Order: sequence, then structure tokens, then C-alpha cells
Amino acid sequence: MQPLKGLILSGGKGTRLRPITHTSAKQLVPVANKPVLFYGIEAMAEAGIEEVGIIIAPETGGEIEAAAGDGSRFGLRITYVVQDEPLGLAHAVLTAEAFLDSSPFVMYLGDNLLQGGISELVAAFREHEPDALILLTPVPDPENYGVAELEQAATGQTGRVRRLIEKPTEPATDLALVGVYMFTAGVHDAARAIAPSARGELEITDAIQHLVDSGLRVEPHIVRGWWKDTGRLEDMLEANRLILDNLVERIDGELIDSQVDGRVVIEAGARLERTRVRGPAVIGAGAVLKDCYIGPYTAIGDGCTIIAAEVEHSILLAGCEVCDLDGRMESSLLGRNVTVRRGERQPRAYRFMVGDNSDISIL
Ligand code: DAU
Repeated sequence: MQPLKGLILSGGKGTRLRPITHTSAKQLVPVANKPVLFYGIEAMAEAGIEEVGIIIAPETGGEIEAAAGDGSRFGLRITYVVQDEPLGLAHAVLTAEAFLDSSPFVMYLGDNLLQGGISELVAAFREHEPDALILLTPVPDPENYGVAELEQAATGQTGRVRRLIEKPTEPATDLALVGVYMFTAGVHDAARAIAPSARGELEITDAIQHLVDSGLRVEPHIVRGWWKDTGRLEDMLEANRLILDNLVERIDGELIDSQVDGRVVIEAGARLERTRVRGPAVIGAGAVLKDCYIGPYTAIGDGCTIIAAEVEHSILLAGCEVCDLDGRMESSLLGRNVTVRRGERQPRAYRFMVGDNSDISIL
């Protein structure tokens, strides 16, 4: 088999994470203080892939290029491919055809996180040489994903793929398509052969169905570890939780009259005064925390300032300021440079300046 290339899809609109994604690419929202996209790039590097194409949208592509660069820091080469409009995952594949050429490739959705990487899957793809390899996992809400129906199989075996449907209203199974796929060059013809779906996109699910209907071999693999599509706030927080669970403790910042329990990373230049951090948690470089409590599953971005506040199970992007909170901030996602503070006057009043489609719960 020719060497495998990588294709990471980082275009699209990211409507479900607005307002965060009004101003920046959803694939750059950090999980445990590292952009989601970087986990995918690292998984490719680990699997020995040397050439990676990243699909970008005209609006957010510059920011992605600035973050990931030429790929040398990951040990691979990155080529950026602009997709003028988000016309679907199969459309993204066609947009990258010149880059992919006749190579087999791994396609990785830039907002997905897969525990344990892709090395084993790449090895299975190389060994069995199917026309495509797809990953499946049971989920409680299959209607939000591509869903697979498999043929009956002998005990202990995974059946062959019979049918794939994108976000069915009445899913026949709970097996969701995970956003990591392996293809041979035949997928380009399949992507050309299909028509746009009801939502106006060229669906990769339909392209794979076309491969199945053409009698080509599509091998299903059931994912054993966890997988997260970080498209929504709850998923983002859960991904953060799963990654922080494997944190290796490291304190490079300064602790003054402060206490740190459990798996905690405090980056260089961060300063904590009279603060308690209960891990797993990560505090970004240059953050300043005074008189705070930071609870489990929290990621505080670089340069944040938190004073007299309690924060738990939350993600704060770089440069946020949180001061004088009455209660505890929890299960929250703050975009870059957001300020949250309590008003000084009594009776208590709230003053907001928030983007479109924000969701504020006062508990
Ligand atoms: O996460 C797994 C699911 O991903 C699968 O189960 C579905 O079958 C598959 O269609 C896909 O569904 P989503 O609706 O979650 O895809 P989304 O629009 O979020 O796009 C996934 C990634 O691909 C995201 O990083 C944006 C990027 N993208 C998306 C489109 C539509 C592009 O780069 N170009 C595009 O045209």
C-alpha cells in the first residue's frame, strides 16, 4: 500500500458553539488548554503519517494556519486546502483531491477526539486493505450522528455494513459513525456520484453507502475507548473532563499561601495567592489567581485573572477575568477575554454584555 496521507476537516461554521465560534474556529477551542484540532494532528503524527492536509474555511482558516503552522512542531508537513463553502464532508474530500491524489488516507474531523489515537486502526487498514474502514460506537442519541446498520455476524465478530444514514429521525441502531475514516482513492468517485442531502450537503455517509452499494469492501470497527464530538457545550466539558483525568501533575508556576490537591498542572508564569486548587485541573501560563477555589475538571487559559471566586468543571479561554463572585461558577465555557464580575451595589443586580445565542443560567 502507498504511504497514507492525512486529511483533517477544520472548515465548517460551528453554529452549535456560538457565540464562541462567532469569532474563532471551533476546532481551536481548547480542551485541557490544548486546541481540539491538535489532538487530531498528534494522533496522525503518532500513527506515522507524514503529509497532512487541513481543510479550512475562508473566514477562520487564517487563525488555524497561525496556530498549527507548517506542522514541523508536530513532526509532519501540513498543507492547507481552502473550502470556499461548507458543502459537506464529501465535498471537503473532493476539494482536497489534488492534495490527496491517488493516496489512501485517514480523514479526521477536526472537532473530534478519540482516546488512544489511530495507530491501531491504521495498522488494521494496512493489513486488511479494505476499500474503506469506518469506526462505530454505541451512543444514547444516535439521531445526532451518522448511523450504521450491520449484517448479522457470527458471535464475537462485527457484521458487514448494510446501511448508513445521516442523522435519521428514527435510528435503526445506536451505532454512531465516529469522525475518523480511512479511505482508498475510490472514495473520490463515490463523492462525485452522490447528490446533496436534504440539508444541502454532500454527506460522507452517502459516499460510503455508495461504496457499499458498488460491492466494495467497507470494514466496520467498533471503538473501544471513549470518543467525543466536541460540537456542543456539554460535549466540550466532557472531553475536558476525560482528558484532565489523565493529567500528569506538574507545577511550574508560583504558589503563595496556596494549596494544590491531586492531578494539577500549573504552567510557568502563573501565580496563585491564597488559592486552593482541587484537581484534575490546569492553570495556564501567566494566570493570576487570588483568594480562589478552583474545583475539579477546570481548565483556566493563559493569562486569566481570577480574584475572590470559585470556579469548577469549566473551561476559561485565554485572558478571562472573573472577580468577586457570590456563588460558584460551574459547567461554564467562557470565550477569550471574557469578564465576569459581581456588581457592587445592593440589592444584587446582573449586568450582561453577551453575544448572540448565548445561554446564561442563574441558578
Ligand atoms: O462527529 C461525528 C459525526 O460527524 C458523524 O457521525 C456524522 O456522520 C458526520 O456527518 C459528522 O456530523 P456533524 O454534523 O457533526 O459534522 P460537522 O458539520 O460538525 O462537521 C464535522 C467537521 O468537519 C467540523 O470540524 C467542521 C468540518 N467541516 C464540515 C463541513 C460540513 C468541513 O471542514 N467542511 C464542511 O463542509
